[in-house]
Amino acid sequence: MIRLLVLAAALIGACANAPSAIAQAVSFSEPERAAILRFGPWPPPPSTDASNRVSGDEKAIRLGLLLFNDPRLSPSGRVACASCHQPEQAFADGLPVAVGAAKGVRNTPSLLDAGFSRWFGWAGANDTLWGASIRPITAAAEMASAAEHVQSLITTDTALSATFTQTFGESAEAMGTEPVLVAVGKALAAYQETLISKRTPFDAFRDALAAGNTAATSTYADSAKRGLKLFIGEGRCSLCHLGPRFTSGEFDDIGVPFFTGPGKVDKGRYAGIQYFKDSAFTRLGAYSDDPAGKDSPAAIPSRHVALQGRAFGSFKVPSLRGVQETAPYMHNGTLKTLPEVMEHYSKMDQERLHIDGAAILRPLNLSPQQALDLEAFLRSLSPMK
Ligand code: HEC
Ligand code: HEC
Repeated sequence: MIRLLVLAAALIGACANAPSAIAQAVSFSEPERAAILRFGPWPPPPSTDASNRVSGDEKAIRLGLLLFNDPRLSPSGRVACASCHQPEQAFADGLPVAVGAAKGVRNTPSLLDAGFSRWFGWAGANDTLWGASIRPITAAAEMASAAEHVQSLITTDTALSATFTQTFGESAEAMGTEPVLVAVGKALAAYQETLISKRTPFDAFRDALAAGNTAATSTYADSAKRGLKLFIGEGRCSLCHLGPRFTSGEFDDIGVPFFTGPGKVDKGRYAGIQYFKDSAFTRLGAYSDDPAGKDSPAAIPSRHVALQGRAFGSFKVPSLRGVQETAPYMHNGTLKTLPEVMEHYSKMDQERLHIDGAAILRPLNLSPQQALDLEAFLRSLSPMK
């Protein structure tokens, strides 16, 4: 009798430790499996940027690395690219909004995998990585520099001027002021193209699923699997966060407030398109090295972008690779942690959303377990330590 009671107690204990939802093995349907495979493979095949003649060039990569870490690029001598894009912080800075020559209004994005983007910056102000590398040099809140300053730095520094001439076959003095600024942007881009994030537990799971290797798929945590199921299912996350970088590369309004001060707003994509249309440093301009120029297939999105009202308050869908390392979140860094991001998607106010966003987005009312599962999935998009 006593033995029976002990057995019953043990059974009850076991059940209490394993609520049914957790005990069940997570399996994926055929359409789910197909959806998961589309998040890979990782890394993508190597590619170069036709609009940048030194893309992939070893000497340019070396010059780009030097310039990236050189605070003398700013007239104050204090702000380098690496001041905000810190290598040991996944090339971000951990601050809500960037602080350079002045305090900015946007969060510093990680530069890992940035080379794979179509549009750069939260508002897509640039259509090339080299254009996006020129922008911070002259931006008042970032380096507050100018083409003349950049040219004189390179002509007067022996190491920089020698590497510059080796890379471009012409001295910075002879090249002309604005072309030097563009060349610097292109060398910086060549370096940044090498910043590719490492494979993650998710990638190992995805490839095992592709290969039908069930022993290997079973090592991916159940909570991450449940989060993944939500991500591609009920959560609708993958309607915007899709492909190997978990982004459509486009712009949306998910209801993050875009006021930056009393009576001041960040117009987001609307301002980005305006900036792009006024810029000389694009795939459509004279500085593109693409032999097909503005008729290149790579320039199609640039040719067709038009200023529309729905761009107002929209921001780029960020890549989710390595998201664990890049808190705080959103274009203005207002969400401090991944649980806060889950809370945002769980409770979002539909009234606040634009008509376009509302069709996809709705408050998810996640249970605590679902929020933890989604978070576990997002954390599996970072390389193992
Ligand atoms: C003061 C901090 C700061 C400095 C200095 C800075 N950046 Fe940035 N960087 C940012 C911020 C903030 C953004 C987002 C800008 C936006 O959306 O308008 C950004 C965006 C970018 C992007 C676009 C990334 C993407 O995925 O869309 C690239 C590329 C970039 N920076 C490269 C550089 C380079 C190269 C330098 C040096 C020449 C540099 N940055 C200097 C803060 C900084
Ligand atoms: C309608 C498109 C859309 C959907 C659906 C969507 N997102 Fe996003 N996501 C965005 C955009 C746009 C941003 C950036 C918004 C901003 O900064 O204002 C973002 C930002 C994020 C960030 C912050 C990343 C960073 O680096 O700052 C995370 C994490 C995230 N989303 C996860 C999710 C999850 C999880 C889901 C599903 C529950 C989801 N998203 C659904 C468009 C979407």
